[in-house]
Amino acid sequence: MRLKDKVAIITGGASGIGKATADMFAAHGAKIVIADINPKAIETAVGDLQAHGVTAAGHLCDVANRDDTHALMKAVHTQFGQIDILINNAGISRYKSFADATSADWDPVLAVDLKGVFFCSQAVAPFMRERSYGRIVNISSALGTGAAPHNTAGSPGGSAAYASAKAGVIMLTKTLARELSPDGITVNCVAPGSFLTEFSSSTRTPEQVEEHLEYRRKHLLLRRVGTLTELATVILFFASEDSSYVTGQTLNVDGGRSDRI
Ligand SMILES: NC(=O)c1ccc[n+]([C@@H]2O[C@H](COP(=O)([O-])OP(=O)(O)OC[C@H]3O[C@@H](n4cnc5c(N)ncnc54)[C@H](O)[C@@H]3O)[C@@H](O)[C@H]2O)c1
Repeated sequence: MRLKDKVAIITGGASGIGKATADMFAAHGAKIVIADINPKAIETAVGDLQAHGVTAAGHLCDVANRDDTHALMKAVHTQFGQIDILINNAGISRYKSFADATSADWDPVLAVDLKGVFFCSQAVAPFMRERSYGRIVNISSALGTGAAPHNTAGSPGGSAAYASAKAGVIMLTKTLARELSPDGITVNCVAPGSFLTEFSSSTRTPEQVEEHLEYRRKHLLLRRVGTLTELATVILFFASEDSSYVTGQTLNVDGGRSDRI
């Protein structure tokens, strides 16, 4: 029970990596708040947790909307009296070649993937400061650490906006760590490689998914795609006391991307 009675907010927690993280945190005794834009998925995810006896709540929140993020933190603080952990996980992607991309492709990705982390962190900080305790974990991506050869791996086109946003998340992690460390708040980041979720399969045909998996099996040092549990375990490390002397760091959880090593 590494998170006993901690209150954890997970953005984008209604599916994929966020949901796996919610399940893992719940198994370690945390009270879970799922903040997402998908009401149906929130209802299902919160219902699943409550059915297992977990204290859980769902909140509709668009992380790209500043007012939403401030209302979220206020509501959670009113409901639970404290906020210990924020996982900035909500994310979207739009793959389009750099030459063809327009502002309509670029802006939503930067708004959700980068500005969303800024809004949520800024909104939660006063509540963590008042108790001199907090854990913020940001979810970046392997694409934020190096440009991948997309078109050869069943991936649809370029990722200029997504990669720029996710690289920004890594730098934002370092600057937030500096500003928040005097208040007992650590800020760390996880950069996942490939994990099979709605996110990674919705932008690809089934054949492209298979091509992508095959490519990963060939090129990853560990020769396989990771499981969501393997990823959530690392997020748990940064959210718990186990990482009490770590801040401002990004950990790649990617099976050893041999194209980066
Ligand atoms: N799956 C992967 O292989 C992979 C790899 C690297 C990084 N990531 C990152 O991990 C995070 C989670 O990805 P996933 O694969 O679980 O995706 P997913 O699509 O399964 O889940 C994303 C969740 O975020 C929610 N969401 C989207 N926009 C939102 C917004 N504006 N406000 C609040 N919630 C919003 C969605 O409704 C969904 O529930 C993302 O930040 C993604 O960039 C994923």
